[in-house]
Amino acid sequence: MPKLSVEGVGTFDVPAGKRLVNALVDECGVDQLHACGGFARCTTCRVEFVSGEPPRMTKAERDVLAAKGLADRPGLRLSCQIACDGDMAVRVVSRLAGSGRADAGKRPADAIEPPADWA
Ligand code: FES
Repeated sequence: MPKLSVEGVGTFDVPAGKRLVNALVDECGVDQLHACGGFARCTTCRVEFVSGEPPRMTKAERDVLAAKGLADRPGLRLSCQIACDGDMAVRVVSRLAGSGRADAGKRPADAIEPPADWA
C-alpha cells in the first residue's frame, strides 16, 4: 500500500491506484478543493510535490496547466490527474478553508477523467 504524506497533516496508507484527489479527502482528511469534479478543467485540485512526483502526466493535465500559465511551476500537479502508484509527499495549497467557496466541489469519480491519455 503506498504511503501518502501531507505536509503538516501526517502520513497515511492509501489504496494502490487510488486517485490522489480522493485519497487526500478520504485517507488524509484534507479539505482539498476539486471544483470541476476532477475533469482537469479548474486546477483547484493542485498540490505541490515534495517527493515522489509521478514522471508521467495526462494530456489533459499538461494542457490545462499550460493554459493557466502553471506549467513552469516545479512540482505543481493536479491531484485529479494522478493515481497513487507509489509513495508520495505533497503540500496542500488549495483548500476549501479560506477559499470563500461554498463547498469543495462534486466528488471526483474513482477513475481519472477524462480517460487518461498519457501523451
Ligand atoms: S482540475 Fe478540477 S478537480 Fe482537478
